[in-house]
Amino acid sequence: MPDFALNQDVELLRLITTDDPQEWEALFAAARRQRETYYGREVYFRGLVEFTNYCKNDCYYCGIRCSNHQVKRYRLSLEQILQSCRVGDMLGFKTFVLQGGEDPWFTDQRVLEVVEAIRKEYPDHAITLSIGERSRKSYEAFFQAGANRYLLRHETANDAHYRKLHPAAMSLTERKDCLFTLKDIGYQVGAGFMVGTPFQTPENLLEDLRFLQALEPHMVGIGPFIPQADTPFGGYPGGTLELTLKMVALTRLLLPKALIPATTALGTIAPQGREKGLMAGANVVMPNLSPKEVRKLYALYDNKICTGDEAAECRFCMEGRIRNFGFVPNMTRGDVAGWNRSA
Ligand code: 5AD
Ligand code: FES
Repeated sequence: MPDFALNQDVELLRLITTDDPQEWEALFAAARRQRETYYGREVYFRGLVEFTNYCKNDCYYCGIRCSNHQVKRYRLSLEQILQSCRVGDMLGFKTFVLQGGEDPWFTDQRVLEVVEAIRKEYPDHAITLSIGERSRKSYEAFFQAGANRYLLRHETANDAHYRKLHPAAMSLTERKDCLFTLKDIGYQVGAGFMVGTPFQTPENLLEDLRFLQALEPHMVGIGPFIPQADTPFGGYPGGTLELTLKMVALTRLLLPKALIPATTALGTIAPQGREKGLMAGANVVMPNLSPKEVRKLYALYDNKICTGDEAAECRFCMEGRIRNFGFVPNMTRGDVAGWNRSA
């Protein structure tokens, strides 16, 4: 096992800030070994359906924030969502991730319709929701209807930093409460954060890791912040590849069983960013299943990759990339290690 004393804040901070490439490599190697304990060299596939880019929130970093009037807004119909899932199923996906902005048009009733329709057609697939903050009652209803997993990044675990990234109407406490509620209901839960957001300090990143240890999420999404020109943070520098990889590796070491995606954002800032993510301990990829016409419109940040590709192209491109690095594509549901479906 790794000989890093990660329980000590000073040591963890030192690793977050080290600029010694040899130490990075040691960290990545340790993270790879740790990943192999539970998951071998398997990489799990999730099909992502970005079904609405309407959002009532106004996060300063995000391209689909409500104040951005440059965005052409879209919503997929129930039939379009189902069609995307069918394409995904034909390509072998056993997990559908339904992601969207916080779109009030998608009332609980409408979300339920979507979940029920997918569940009816695909009794054994995993359904993952990523639609932001809702009440416990809503989360319970979605779960009853057949949703299994929920992604809700905490974005930053530090309250003062959270307030620098979001308008006053949003609160970190509420977001953290949502995460604990989701876990309590029985979802497999994904938290996560961006690396290199404006005003972020190494101490903030340390807090992110400690928060993850307290929450014990089943999944952790980590990606670099990438400026989007039409947002208040459009002029700030983005997060770096190295720091993002270090955070992926440290997360793997602290949460050995976590499912950690090599994110699209990581692939956007470096030619083999996602592959490097896998080499730093990640074990999930999320190719896009959204209809080609709307891909470019789900622009959380600039220069997003894969927006011109059909679902099938992405699926097979990703498989090739994974194999090139000695990993094994895994198209099963890929629940977290030790998960008991009936529990
Ligand atoms: N750069 C990188 N990631 C972003 N997200 C939103 N805006 C950006 C950006 N400019 C991330 C957030 C959100 C997830 C869906 O996308 O972490 O939770
Ligand atoms: Fe999408 Fe390569 S993974 S085109």
